[in-house]
Formats: sequence, C-alpha cells, structure tokens
Amino acid sequence: MNLDKIVALCKRRGFVYQSSDIYGGLNGVYDFGPLGTLLKQNIRKVWVQSLKKTDKEIVFFEGSILGSYDVWKASGHADHFNDPMVDCLNCKKRYRADEINLEKPCTHCGKKDWTRARQFNMMFKTNLGAAADEASIAYLRPETAQSIFINFKNVISTTRVHIPFGIAQIGKAFRNEITPKQFLFRMREFEQMELEWFCKKENADTYFDYWVNEREKFYDAIGIKKENIRLKDHDKNELAHYSNQTTDIEYHFPFGWKELEGVADRGNFDLTQHSSHSGKELSVYDDETKKSYIPNVVECSVGVDRMFLMVLFDAYTQDTIDGEQRVVLKISPKLAPIKAAFLPLTKKLSDEFLPIYKKIKTQTGFDMQFDVSGSIGKRYRRQDEIGTPVCFTYDFDSQKDGKVTARSRDTTKQERVDIDQLETYLKNIIQ
Ligand code: GAP
Repeated sequence: MNLDKIVALCKRRGFVYQSSDIYGGLNGVYDFGPLGTLLKQNIRKVWVQSLKKTDKEIVFFEGSILGSYDVWKASGHADHFNDPMVDCLNCKKRYRADEINLEKPCTHCGKKDWTRARQFNMMFKTNLGAAADEASIAYLRPETAQSIFINFKNVISTTRVHIPFGIAQIGKAFRNEITPKQFLFRMREFEQMELEWFCKKENADTYFDYWVNEREKFYDAIGIKKENIRLKDHDKNELAHYSNQTTDIEYHFPFGWKELEGVADRGNFDLTQHSSHSGKELSVYDDETKKSYIPNVVECSVGVDRMFLMVLFDAYTQDTIDGEQRVVLKISPKLAPIKAAFLPLTKKLSDEFLPIYKKIKTQTGFDMQFDVSGSIGKRYRRQDEIGTPVCFTYDFDSQKDGKVTARSRDTTKQERVDIDQLETYLKNIIQ
C-alpha cells in the first residue's frame, strides 16, 4: 500500500483534484470532487454526532476566518508560530531545517551550499479594504480555536451553558507550510474540527483522560483498524507554546506513525492572554467558592482532510474474487459516499427499476447511484472501488417474484430481498 495508489484513486474517481489544476496546480491546496465532498460531509457528520451523543454539554460555533493582528499577538502565534527554513543557494530549493540533515548536500542538486536557518511565520497575512497600511493587516486563522476563545464571554452571556461545557467548531484553517507534502496530510488550506472543553483547573486532568478515551472510542466506532491507532504523549520539549500536556492520537500511515489528532491541556493560557491583551474580563464566577476564575481548557483537534486521508488508507483493500483482482474500499457504511447502487441487469429493465430507485432515494435521502452502463461485473467493481456497501440488481426474475439481488461489498455474497423491504434493509446496513 502506498500514497500513489490513494492519489490515483482519488483523481480517477473524483474524490480530490489538485487546486487550479488547469493552470498547473497550486501546491498544498486541493479541491474536492463529488465523491470527496460526500465523504467530507459524512466525516463532519460522524464527528458532530460523536459529541452530541455524549452526556456532556456542548454548543456549536462558527467563527470568522479573518482575524486581527491583536488576536494572533495575544495567542502567541505572531511570535511563536514559526518553522525553521533553509534554502539551497545553488538550486534555490527551500526546506524545513528540522526535516533535513544540514551536514549533508541538498538532495535535489547534490551541492552543499545552505543559507543559515531563519524562522518563518506560517500565518497568511492580508489587508482589509483599500488601505494597505499597518492598521488594515489581518490574518487567515492558522487554527479555529482562537475564534472560540475570543468569543468565550459572548457564548456564556448569551446561552445557558455552565462550566464544565464545550464549544465545538468545524472550519477552515490556513498555514503557509514551507513544504506541504503527502497529499492531504500537510496542506496549506485545510479544515479542522476542534472541541474546546472549559473546566475547573482541578478537574482538567480527569477531563483530559476522559477526552483522550472518547476520541479513541470514536475511531473504533467508525471502523478504523485498532492496530493502526496508538496514543503518543508529547515530551516537554515537543509541546506547543500553549500546552501543558498533549497526547497525540497517531495513525499508522504508509509513511510512518503520524499525528492524526491532538488532545491538549491548554491550561488557562489562551483566556488569560486574551483577557490581558484586550483588557476584557474573561473569568467566570464560582457559586461554591464565591470567587471568579479563568477556566482551564482541554482541546481535541483533528483535521477533516487528514482524517479523510486516513479513512481511505484504512479502507483500501486489494483482494481476488473468482480469480479476478479487485480494489475495494472497506469503508464504514456511515462514511461511504454512496450508500447503495441500483443496477438493472440489462438496459431493458431500467424502466421498471428506475421508479423504485427514485422512490427509495426520496424516502431515505441517501446518496445513491443508478447505473446501467457496462457489464454487471464492471459495475460491481466500480462501486467496490468507491466503497458502496451494497448493490441491488434487478433481473428478469424480479418481474415475477418482486425481489432484487442484494450483493454485499465486503463478502460479495448475494441474497434476494423483497423490493417492499428495500428501505428497511438499507437503513439496517447504514446505521
Ligand atoms: N488548535 C490546535 C492545533 O491546531 P495542531 O496539532 O497544529 O493543533 C491539529 O493541529 C490538527 O489539525 C492536526 O492533528 C491535524 O489533524 C490537522 N492539521 C494541522 N496542520 C495541518 C496541515 N497543514 N494539513 C492538514 N491537516 C493539518
């Protein structure tokens, strides 16, 4: 299994396209095609559901992408969100200094002629309005979390939430990565799903363990192979500038064990910083102690696109059925972009099967496909490759017995199902 196979599948079947493709492409930026869009929607949906299905109080939020310099100064990103960068003076190729051996020559041109390492801030800068002066500078957010922190007071004063509670957000983030790589793994424009859990300091450790555990359970629930997931605690020298402790949930990608999601104890760093920089009170009143305090935050943060890539790796399978090789995405039915395919055995049977397909589609609202082109074997393979859990085939017997053949993606086993029962049959698979 390698990355090239996933990239090729994504392009071939319309999951992902290089951004600005017809103009030569934009490095580290991608567009999502029809199937990729459905997969992303399903990933967001299962994440939201996993939070809604806890007994915890969590509200959802959507912050702006643009933020003022003040926000990023207070958060520490203006000063600390840097990667070390070096250039090869001979071929002008640029590298992250911590990812190469500067004692060795450039892997691109073979010469050893490095610039000194400089700190490169990864935030994208822009100007608001026509005046390109200091006052108009704004930044595209490098994480969604800060918009939650700066709205903390707004949320508690306009809703009925009480500590402990969470604010969750899904949204775009931007990082001017020096070397975007491994397809969707390290991008310049990506999407995050973040939960900021506000609690009392004395409960932060308990909630940290709770959320690490919840997030591990989440991957199990969406069918990710247990052996491909592990936890890794950060050493003190690996911690981000805001973190007291971090545990990464790592996935065993073909290019090694890598961070999929980070769970971090951010202490009360962010709210304290924003309170002192803005001069606004961001503490809450404790009815028990009759004192005000700034709550601690436990954060769970994962990229939609990185999860997308992980799901494809985990599901990608090659097997041999009746002597014929096939590629099959053994993806959880909850995540599958297309839930079922309706395949009339011959074109002649389309007129009878199409109304049945339309009826079930309108009844369930599921994304499904009706496909008449090619042999039935080819049509099964096409659906296997995009992870469709079940195919229904309408044949000449269907006219007589009111049944279709249901063929399972994973086992390729077939069974006859009453057309009247199709909706229930499908719902049972997708649960
Ligand atoms: N608010 C905390 C935060 O942003 P992070 O570890 O920098 O922490 C969290 O990012 C998650 O966002 C990562 O675990 C990863 O899933 C995703 N992510 C970060 N940088 C990314 C990039 N350049 N491309 C794709 N996903 C990225």
